Amino acid sequence: MVCNLSRREPDNSLDGRLRHHSCDLAEAGALASAAEAVRRDLAAAPPGQLLVILNSGFGAYGRFPDIEGEKQTRLIDVNVRSVVDLAARLMEPLRERGGAVLLVASTAAWQPTPWLATYGASKAFLLQWGLALREDLRGSGVGVTVLCPGPTRTAFFRAAEMGEAPPGTGMADAGAVARLGMRGVARNRAVVVPGVLNKLSTALACRLPRRWQGPVAGFILKRFRNPSSNV
Ligand SMILES: NC(=O)c1ccc[n+]([C@@H]2O[C@H](COP(=O)([O-])OP(=O)(O)OC[C@H]3O[C@@H](n4cnc5c(N)ncnc54)[C@H](OP(=O)(O)O)[C@@H]3O)[C@@H](O)[C@H]2O)c1
Repeated sequence: MVCNLSRREPDNSLDGRLRHHSCDLAEAGALASAAEAVRRDLAAAPPGQLLVILNSGFGAYGRFPDIEGEKQTRLIDVNVRSVVDLAARLMEPLRERGGAVLLVASTAAWQPTPWLATYGASKAFLLQWGLALREDLRGSGVGVTVLCPGPTRTAFFRAAEMGEAPPGTGMADAGAVARLGMRGVARNRAVVVPGVLNKLSTALACRLPRRWQGPVAGFILKRFRNPSSNV
């Protein structure tokens, strides 16, 4: 059985195995009801381990003061608050059954990200929180893996009001990234950074002196401006 929490029902019903619970994760009450529905599904599900994939999230591109304040706080609600809340609500069945949590962060987690300031910080939270959670859960039968994809072909760029990735950025295939994430879970990896370019950029970014990290990232991220938007 696969339970999905998002606002829209996915097209693929997984041959009837999909249980969709429509939920805006920015709304605390809706999240609580949907998590309760998942716990009821689990109580009726056959025995077996549980994989909780905390993937929902969005970006908001632009200079900080130019992005609407409500959008920034909504981003924190979806990318950060809902992840912690859902993990806590599903921890009991996770510990009973054993299994894993897969957190979807980003290469944006590895340095400050001007033009995507709140988004990058939300993903840095997930990276640090996930690594700490992994230690807190050590020996409990629940593993934690943090997936940090770089630019990937999905609806993300349009939703974030970003332009096309500039030439040479290398957009990954979403299926390939998901498979690497699942392989990381199977091998109980702490962190998975898909792709050689992303591995290099994250390794380099965190070795730069702090004062250079923001300017270098800002130079790169400025190139993602959408020419038809006014940011
Ligand atoms: N694509 C990239 O380049 C990239 C790179 C690094 C990390 N990521 C991360 O990968 C994850 C998946 O994004 P994606 O690339 O697949 O982008 P996407 O195609 O825009 O998918 C975003 C997902 O988040 C869900 N979502 C967004 N707001 C929501 C809300 N308020 N309530 C419930 N669900 C919500 C969406 O479902 P509904 O719209 O149906 O609610 C959708 O399933 C995100 O956490 C993103 O930050 C993406």
